[in-house]
Parts: sequence; C-alpha cells; structure tokens
Amino acid sequence: MNDEHPASLAGRRIVVGVSGSIAAYKAVLVVRRLLEAGAIVDVAMTPAAAAFVTPLTFASLTHRPVVSDVLALDGDQQIAHIELAEAADAILLAPATANLLAELAAGLVPDAVTAIACASRAPVLVAPAMDAGMWTHPATQRNVAALRDYGYIVIEPEVGELASGLTGIGRLADPVHIVEAVERRFARSGDLEGVRVVVSAGGTREPIDPVRFIGNRSSGKMGAAIAEAARDRGASVTLVAGSMSVTPPRGVTVVEATTAAAMREAIIGAAPHADILVMAAAVADFAPVRPAKRKIKRDGSALNVELVPNPDIVAEVGEMPEDVRPFLIGFAAESDDLEANATGKLRDKGLDLIVGNVIGGPFDAIGSDENKVTVFGVEGPLTDWPMLPKRQVAERLWDLIVDRYRKARDGESPAPRGGRRSGG
Ligand code: PMT
Repeated sequence: MNDEHPASLAGRRIVVGVSGSIAAYKAVLVVRRLLEAGAIVDVAMTPAAAAFVTPLTFASLTHRPVVSDVLALDGDQQIAHIELAEAADAILLAPATANLLAELAAGLVPDAVTAIACASRAPVLVAPAMDAGMWTHPATQRNVAALRDYGYIVIEPEVGELASGLTGIGRLADPVHIVEAVERRFARSGDLEGVRVVVSAGGTREPIDPVRFIGNRSSGKMGAAIAEAARDRGASVTLVAGSMSVTPPRGVTVVEATTAAAMREAIIGAAPHADILVMAAAVADFAPVRPAKRKIKRDGSALNVELVPNPDIVAEVGEMPEDVRPFLIGFAAESDDLEANATGKLRDKGLDLIVGNVIGGPFDAIGSDENKVTVFGVEGPLTDWPMLPKRQVAERLWDLIVDRYRKARDGESPAPRGGRRSGG
C-alpha cells in the first residue's frame, strides 16, 4: 500500500469515536487522512478524550459538530448519537482504550462513543491503544475476542515505545494503516475477491506410540493471521491446520491435518484447486518409521526410535504442472544465515516467494504474538519491515503477494520455476 489517497472513501460517512488515551492526538491525523480520502467525517468523543484533545480541534477539521454528550440533541432536535449511528457507513473507534473495549464487549453505553457503536448497524473498526500490560491482560484479550465475535474489525496495536517510556505492544496502529483498514472495508470487492487461498498453519505431530509424538512449538498464530487477513480481503480460504494453540478464524474452511502425512494429503488434494498456497506450517522433517500400536512401556533400557524423512510437501507442489500449480509461498524458520538459507529453500522447493523469520534466539518467531520477517524473491530480499504484530505482518504479506500473484498471472514477471500464469 502507498501513502496516496485516491478518493476511495468519497461520500462515505465515517463516524470516528475517540476515547481517552494519550494517542487521542493521533485521531486528528486519522480524521485528516479520512477527509483527504473523500470521507464525510463526524467525530464523537468520550469525556476523557476531551481531556486530551479538544472537540474544537475536530470540529475545525471536519466543519461538523462534535458529539461529546450522550444526551445531546442535534440541530433538528433529534438525539445526536442515534442520528449518527443510523447515518454512518462505518464507525472507527481510534484510539480505543482498554476501558472502551470492556464497555463495548459488555454492551455498556455510558457515553456518546459507546452509544453510537452499540446503536449502529454499520461495520465497526476498533484501533486499540494502551499500555502493553493492559493489552496482554487476559480480560482485555477476552474483550477483544468478544468484539471479533460481534463482527468488529480489530486493527491490531503496534509494538513500539509507549507513553510509559517502556517498549512493548499497545501503541496505536499507524494512522496510515488505520485509514487503509477503513478503505479495505469499503473496497467494492476486496483485492482477493474470487481468489482461492490455501494456508497451512501450526505444527505437525509424528506419533511414536498412541500417546507420544515428535512435534514442535508452532502455535499456528502466524498461519491463522494470514488466513484471517485473506478472508477479510474477500478470498475463499481453506486453512490446513496442524496442531494449533489458537482458534482458527471464523469464516474459513478448516481441514485438520496433525501429521505430516495428513498435511501432505490435504495440501496435495487442495493445491490444484487453489490460486495461492501459503505454507506457514512447521512440518516435522522426520517421523518414527513404525509408530507402536500400544503405549511403549518403560523397562529400564534405552529406547531407539528410528526416524525416516517426511515428504517435502511444498516442494511437491512446486513440481506440479504449471496449469495446476498455485502461486506458491513458503516460510523459512532459521536460527542463522537467514538470507542464504531462505533463498536456498526458495530455489530448491520451486517457490515464488519465501518468508524468512528467526527462531531460537533472543527473539523467537515461534509462539510469539509478533514477528519480524523478510520476504525473499528470486532477486533477493524484497522487504525491510520492523517487528510487527502477526496480523500486521499478514496484511503486509498480502499486499506483496497480491501484487506478485497478479503480475505472475498476467505474465508480467517470471517466477523461478514457472509460477502459475493462467489466472482464476
Ligand atoms: O505458528 P507460530 O507459533 O505463529 O510460528 C510461526 C512459524 C515460525 C512456525 C512460521 O512463521 C514458519 O516459519 N513456518 C515454517 C516453519 C518451517 O517448517 O520452516 P522450514 O524452514 O523447516 O520449512 C520450509 C518450508 O517448507 C515451509 O514453508 C514448510 O511449511 C515447508 N515444509 C517443510 C518440511 C516438509 N516436510 N514439508 C514442507 O512443506
């Protein structure tokens, strides 16, 4: 995505709800960008928000009255918050404090912002901002999950310096990204509308006996975020799920595949019907040659488990004939030499793109809520992205993948081993 604003929101009525966070000043930038994109913007404020930024600031920008009193009437003597709730094409809550999230999750409406969000049938986007401890607190995470269940779009906070001076997750997403999320919600058809996407996520577990296995720590967070972001862009998404510690996103088809063999079967079956395959799963490279049918008993002697290599699933897809081979993105989880190892895998496995991330060091991509990735193509590194929440990594990945996929489909750029050229 770029910084330009075509009038993509022309004529859209957006209500921006501002709550009481130090990040409230960034809502001014968000409102300005929405106006530049052609939107008609109304602002509602909680009393605490007005302690950080005055209503006059927003009124001057929008040339419209600001609603900061839940009991206020508008010029036609109608209840202002109900009028706005009904007129809104979308509601954007930015910044949304932990308190605002809790009130929304519980259906409490103590002020104009919560009242508008609760009364409206328009889509609601929420951009939280708070201290890292508050964001990661189970209560907040439970409230965020509840809001997602109500269909709210959550624009994940970023990692960075917080008002406390500490560094962590909780900083309001960049105003550019917030406005992009609003634009995406309005894109007449998302940029993956009609595109069939298969994503693998989580780790495989290779049985030693009925209760023991060889596995890895993959949580499935990265793959789930990629599947969720593809869904939000209009793709029809199949998630091939290994062992995951997170719930798969709603609205995607989930195929459970907890061993490498099951994952191979699911992927090889789905790939010829897919336009894009993203292999984010951590597939075990080896499996016990003969898993015991009964639980192995301890008898004091050493246990030797013979391992055999598992099939390389993504490499098999890479060798599929061009007319059925999907546009292919692999991941490389490396503890050292990221570029050399990732580009080696890109070539060896016949991928169009590979996403490199680091494991096993001071930062470990596995299990973390954030990730710092570098995407490589045949020509080398393509990105220089900071550490981001996995959902934002997923958004950036899709921006890049969509661009590359379209070019490969339209024959504009070569793929290493013959990316799919016939679209659909
Ligand atoms: O799940 P999280 O906790 O969120 O962590 C995310 C992650 C770190 C697991 C993820 O971002 C990631 O890097 N996934 C790939 C892990 C991996 O198996 O990397 P690899 O370098 O061993 O494999 C390279 C590629 O080949 C991967 O796309 C993998 O899915 C694929 N592969 C590997 C082995 C195999 N037998 N078949 C495969 O298809």
